Amino acid sequence: MTDFLRGPFPSTRMRRVRRHDWSRRMVAENEVSVSDLIWPWFVFDGDGRQPVPSLPGVDRLGTDQIRRQAALAVELGIPAIAVFPATATELKTEDAAEASNPDNLVCRSVRAIKAEVGDALGVICDVALDPYSSHGQDGLVRDGDVVNDETVQVLCQQAIVQAAAGCDIIAPSDMMDGRIGAIRGALDDAGHANVQIMSYAAKYASAFYGPFRDAVGSSGNLGGGSKKTYQQSPSQSDEALHEVALDLAEGADSVMVKPGMPYLDIVQRVKSTFGVPTFAYQVSGEYAMLSAAAQNGWLDRQATVMESLMAFKRAGADGVLTYFAEDVARWLKA
Ligand code: PBG
Repeated sequence: MTDFLRGPFPSTRMRRVRRHDWSRRMVAENEVSVSDLIWPWFVFDGDGRQPVPSLPGVDRLGTDQIRRQAALAVELGIPAIAVFPATATELKTEDAAEASNPDNLVCRSVRAIKAEVGDALGVICDVALDPYSSHGQDGLVRDGDVVNDETVQVLCQQAIVQAAAGCDIIAPSDMMDGRIGAIRGALDDAGHANVQIMSYAAKYASAFYGPFRDAVGSSGNLGGGSKKTYQQSPSQSDEALHEVALDLAEGADSVMVKPGMPYLDIVQRVKSTFGVPTFAYQVSGEYAMLSAAAQNGWLDRQATVMESLMAFKRAGADGVLTYFAEDVARWLKA
């Protein structure tokens, strides 16, 4: 047989350490653990569970489900959940006043969670007006424009009622300028100096949010409108660092990149540039894609989901908001 192996044949053989499972585990640079998971929930005013068709396997939770699900999250070891309201249509208004109602669906849900599990589970609340506005925009609309400074005043009110209800982490997802500093000041003035801010710092105007907007019932309201005047363009990378720098200077405790998988380059840059707690959101459209392919038998659900989470960790994420959180926690336990 012809000898094709000429010259000094490799003394380094990369495959040696890959040969056995124990060795692959031993050299592993990254690991996915249950402590990396943040579990997003949708809640509605009523009882029982409502499936969300574009998020197969994800249900909106009725009031009677919340305490049980909180106990489940603790039992599974999931550190934190994020609550999103499917606000009743009749409560949605032009000025999104319901966002600042201390007795709104989110505040009632937070109080129920805290009554059940106290500090055993972190509770995260979004700050943005879209679940409450009749136009589906994250801010107040004046003459067709989403106005910045006036919106920030309302967001501060929203943050205060959520913190008063027991929310541990305020997560502004609205992308208004200056909101982190304003909310930090408002929280401090209201006696909530220990409430964290996790800023959606680099949030892109993404088509991957579609199923989320179905879940909170804002897609119809938004209609053909877009959020491109405040969310970042997918073309931008340096701009994300600028956003993160501002939010940190204004007092953010941690930052988030969103969407997740198509934006791992941003996660990597943010983490390596700032070295602060960095989270990524595996958004509704990413969940829908993986789920649809798995339902068709085209992808192995568990293997692809676990690989996707490992990719987040490898990119530098300290944690991931993912609708797969419950499944992942169970797989990790098994
Ligand atoms: C609200 C908000 C959105 C998401 C989280 N908070 C939607 C949007 O900005 O339109 C999307 C999350 C997901 O798609 O899973 N501002």
